[in-house]
Amino acid sequence: MINAGELVRLFRDRFGQAPRWVVRAPGRVNLIGEHTDYNEGFVMPLAIEHAVWIALAPRDDRRVVVESLDFGGRVEFPIDEVAAAQPGSGHPLQPSHRSGQVWPAYIAGVTWSLAQDGWPLRGWEGLIHGDVPIGAGLSSSAAIEVATAYAFAASAGWEPKVPSLARACQRAENQWVGVGCGIMDQLVSLAGKKGHAILIDCRSLEYRPVILPAEVVVVIMDTGTRRGLADSEYNSRRSQCEEAARLLGVRALRDIGWDNWPQCELVLPEPWRRRARHVVSENHRTLQAVEAMEQRALDRLGRLLVESHQSLRDDFEVSSPALDTIVAIAQAQPGCFGARMTGAGFGGCAIALVEAARAREFAQSVEAEYRRRTNLEPKLYVSAPAYGAQILSVDELSPPGSENP
Ligand code: GLA
Repeated sequence: MINAGELVRLFRDRFGQAPRWVVRAPGRVNLIGEHTDYNEGFVMPLAIEHAVWIALAPRDDRRVVVESLDFGGRVEFPIDEVAAAQPGSGHPLQPSHRSGQVWPAYIAGVTWSLAQDGWPLRGWEGLIHGDVPIGAGLSSSAAIEVATAYAFAASAGWEPKVPSLARACQRAENQWVGVGCGIMDQLVSLAGKKGHAILIDCRSLEYRPVILPAEVVVVIMDTGTRRGLADSEYNSRRSQCEEAARLLGVRALRDIGWDNWPQCELVLPEPWRRRARHVVSENHRTLQAVEAMEQRALDRLGRLLVESHQSLRDDFEVSSPALDTIVAIAQAQPGCFGARMTGAGFGGCAIALVEAARAREFAQSVEAEYRRRTNLEPKLYVSAPAYGAQILSVDELSPPGSENP
């Protein structure tokens, strides 16, 4: 983990000139509203302090050149060649043809996707660095995508627009990288607000900040397990939800309110009934959670997190023994209002809503007990809700060493 001043210095060493900007795009955790985004429902994630940074300078030759500080590789391509490629056509910067590193595919994918939308693109050279844990379900890939989109915005001089850039980044991941995902991760990486979670309507893409009461913190609990099978299971849940919507005669499960559920459930066979029950109840819980947060009703908010976990575990079946264990341990601690798995599931992270004054003691007890029960090494972080993506002009950056990117 290095600071922005250090990244600027390292850029200078590598590219022989000063960078003009440093762009930053955060990872995220989802407070509540899980597996609802691709059902056009509601989510309430928050941007975290872990992020991806790119120090960059414009180029005049319509080429993108990026070095990775963390992986040591370098990628270089002409914008127009990538813009003209077809996703899935075996372009060398598409993942199936890559040798080893994945990050260049995200950069090329965002280039391709921005070109599809007609954004003016100019060449740039950059040094990329991040501290979002990879594969933990904290959206390191969305952070690379959004940072790349911001690098293009800075170099070509246009104003980033949140919903359309979120769509462009999602398209890069769906079509170029070939991973199914909803819109949540990219949108919150763009729209995050310090001290707030962001309520997103994944149909209209309207969003608004919801303040996190100061007396609590969100503790991120990495189980130390990674999500095996996650992609195929994710895709299968998505198609089950689409099928359930079709059987119910609606465009998306978002169109079923919790009040209508008793009639709807009679129509659906298993497992579609349980999958749909999760989505319909989770949308309802998410809107209730907004109210609870605004009223500082922390016990109620905590209960909603607990119910969300149960629904993900029993109805949607995307939890794992490690996630269930860490959630159970967390819930038994003093000062914990509630806990749940977060993100796609099958491994990675859970979150707990904890009284701020007891967060340290909470983290120590959960770590010790989880280690004892599982022999796995957990990692716990307290991350205050952070700002969404930013373009910082290097001229305005504080002197090297004084800023923590
Ligand atoms: C992954 C996807 C998101 C969302 C979550 C589940 O993180 O990238 O779009 O679907 O899973 O809520």
